[in-house]
Amino acid sequence: MKPFVYFDHIEDLDSESKYLAHKAKEATAHAYAPYSKFCVGAALVLDDGTIISGSNQENAAYPLCMCAERVALYAASSLHPDKKIMKMAVVAHKKNHKDLTPATCCGSCRQVLVEFESRQNKPIELIMLGPDHKWIKAPSAASTLPLGFSKESLDI
Ligand code: THU
Repeated sequence: MKPFVYFDHIEDLDSESKYLAHKAKEATAHAYAPYSKFCVGAALVLDDGTIISGSNQENAAYPLCMCAERVALYAASSLHPDKKIMKMAVVAHKKNHKDLTPATCCGSCRQVLVEFESRQNKPIELIMLGPDHKWIKAPSAASTLPLGFSKESLDI
């Protein structure tokens, strides 16, 4: 499996990844996060170059909150069911702070991403800002989720 690659500065990323990170940051403007005050944006690119973005959407019934990544993924598969997702960037900042804060995809989103990869039979590259403020390029969602649950377990 390909390794994770780390970058000290956003400028060190390739231009597509940089642009996706920029679109993800733009998407944080539409986060609805009155409870956590943690604004997350995700932007993904399809195999025809279309970019779809999403932001976290919260609810007073806390468990109903939806992560930015899944908002973007479900929009992509609803609007463009025949297109493959090539890459996704995820960024976050605290409300009223302009600087990005480290945030890697939660386990639920990794689980969903892995099933998207298996459906499209193609890895999805992930760009995230890691805990030490280094940018991480993961070669696939599967590389971030060892031993995830899969539909094979249901086929008994
Ligand atoms: N959140 C995301 O949007 N993506 C993640 O991968 C982790 C967390 C959101 C959910 C909630 O609205 C807020 O961040 C705080 O957990």
